[in-house]
Amino acid sequence: MSFRFLDLPAARDDLRADVLAGLAAQPKSIPPKYFYDAPGCRLFEAICKQPEYAVTRTEHALMASRLPEIAAAIGQVDCIIEPGAGDCSKVRALLDALHPSQLIVLDIAGSALAQAAEPLAHDYPLLDVTAIGMDFIHELDAASPHLAPGRRLIYYPGSSIGNFSPAEAATVLTRFRHLAGEAGQLLIGFDLKKSPQQLHQAYNDAAGVTAAFNLNLLERLNRELGANFDLAQFNHYAFYNPQAGRIEMHLVSLAEQTVTISGQAFHFDLGESLHTENSYKYRPDEFGGIANSAGWKQKGEWVLDGFAVQLYT
Ligand code: AVI
Repeated sequence: MSFRFLDLPAARDDLRADVLAGLAAQPKSIPPKYFYDAPGCRLFEAICKQPEYAVTRTEHALMASRLPEIAAAIGQVDCIIEPGAGDCSKVRALLDALHPSQLIVLDIAGSALAQAAEPLAHDYPLLDVTAIGMDFIHELDAASPHLAPGRRLIYYPGSSIGNFSPAEAATVLTRFRHLAGEAGQLLIGFDLKKSPQQLHQAYNDAAGVTAAFNLNLLERLNRELGANFDLAQFNHYAFYNPQAGRIEMHLVSLAEQTVTISGQAFHFDLGESLHTENSYKYRPDEFGGIANSAGWKQKGEWVLDGFAVQLYT
């Protein structure tokens, strides 16, 4: 059994600088990666269990029902790399089917990642597991020295690619291309365009979990930056924008108010929005175009109930 954890502190996000810049901009925005503090991760897990939010369930069902075919299309693999691995639960099916000798999991939440990854080393005694706490979007090259030679598969499930704009997604996929190397492959999951009503409901669940997830961002700023957001004065507002092909999540100010963070005051007009997330939805061919522009060639595609998994080489 072998397990290593590396925390790459150079890669830490700068919450304060990003928030101050985002609130000073017009329109105001905060990058969605800041949703995922410990309470935010728990709320996201709860979102995945809501009846209206089918992404996680459908991807799981798709991977379970088509795994033999997917594994046959991938073929022999020495190393699986999972960026944004979180609780490391999704990769187990691929480990069982592909038997790689090395697993590299990457996530910005380093200590949570280490806790989730270590049991994999116990459960798969022949697997060399490396967990790296890093900003895999901006610092992906820092993972290269830890990769053993051989055939690599990058696994990027969960439709996380949808939280980037199409241009940013192309940049991320280009970075994956470099990390995967010549013989490398990419297995990626993404949410498909579907009825606006269905999408609307997925981000406006009846139990209010997505609203709590969105508002937790303000709570995090109060906790970690000493901000003084009054959560009762902001509304969760999420809708599907068909022109842009994306869900937009906002926090809308219910009053004219001023919020202070690190000694800086930020004015909100009544009705002003703080844009917190985009979640792009694609047609399979549309996503294929982005992957092609990043140097990937499609090798396989599996679709179930409005969710797609594509394999690229
Ligand atoms: C992580 N990501 C793919 C989720 C999504 O659907 O865009 C995040 C999320 N935001 C609100 N609900 C779920």
